[in-house]
Amino acid sequence: MKFVKQEVRKLLQHFHYDIVHLNKDTKLSENVIKAPALVQKSLKATKINYGCGSKLMKNWLNVDIQVENKKDYLTTCVDLRGIHPFRNNQFTYGYAEDFLEHLTQSDQILFLQEVYRTFKKNGVLRLSFPGLEGILNEHYEAGYYTDPLIAKQNAYVQWKHEHYPCKAELRMICKKIGFQRITFVTYGKSSFKDLRGIDTRYLQKSINIYVEIVK
Ligand SMILES: C[S@@+](CC[C@H](N)C(=O)[O-])C[C@H]1O[C@@H](n2cnc3c(N)ncnc32)[C@H](O)[C@@H]1O
Repeated sequence: MKFVKQEVRKLLQHFHYDIVHLNKDTKLSENVIKAPALVQKSLKATKINYGCGSKLMKNWLNVDIQVENKKDYLTTCVDLRGIHPFRNNQFTYGYAEDFLEHLTQSDQILFLQEVYRTFKKNGVLRLSFPGLEGILNEHYEAGYYTDPLIAKQNAYVQWKHEHYPCKAELRMICKKIGFQRITFVTYGKSSFKDLRGIDTRYLQKSINIYVEIVK
C-alpha cells in the first residue's frame, strides 16, 4: 500500500499536485489552498538565493518575502514558509545566508522539503546560519533567570530569530527528507565553483554553521 501511495504521489507531483491527509483539525496555510502560480520569469533560473535581503547575486534568482526590483538582477517575492512557486527538479545550486534562523523549526523542515522538490538530482544547497552551539557560546552563561532572559532578547527577539538548529539536527532532518549528502564546510570554502567565496558575513565565522546539502 505504501509503495502504491508513493508511486501515485510521484505521478501527481510531476503535475504539481500532491496527496494531503487532512485531520479534522488540520489547517492548511493560504499557500496550499491557493497553490501559487509558477513564477514565469523565474522558470529558467537554475541558481537561487533564498532570503536575499538587499544582497542580490548576479545570474542568480534572488528571492525574499520582500525584495526590490533592481536592473540586471532577477528577483521575486516569495514567502518561503509556503509552497515554492518553482518547478520540480529546477535548480542546480541554492544559497541562503542568515535566512534559516528566521523560520521556526517546523517551517525549516517545510523549507528544506521544498528545496528537495525543486532541486535537480545532485543539486546543492549551501547554508550559512548561526548554529545553536555558536549562539550558546556567544550569548549564554549559567546564571539566574535574568541572564537567559537577556540572552533570549539579544540572540532571538531583537533579530526576529526563531530557531537555531545544531549540526546533528540539520543532518537528521536532511536525511529524513532524502538528501544524499550533508557536508559541513567553512567560511568561503566549497568544492563547487559556484558556491565558493560567496559568504559575506566574515565576523560571524565563529558562530555560523556552513553546510552543503546534496539532493
Ligand atoms: C538577516 S536577513 C539576511 C539577508 C541576506 N541574505 C544577508 O545575508 O544579508 C534575513 C532575510 O530573510 C528574509 N525572510 C525572513 N522570513 C522570510 C520568509 N518567510 N520568506 C522569505 N524571506 C524571508 C527577510 O526578509 C530578510 O531579508
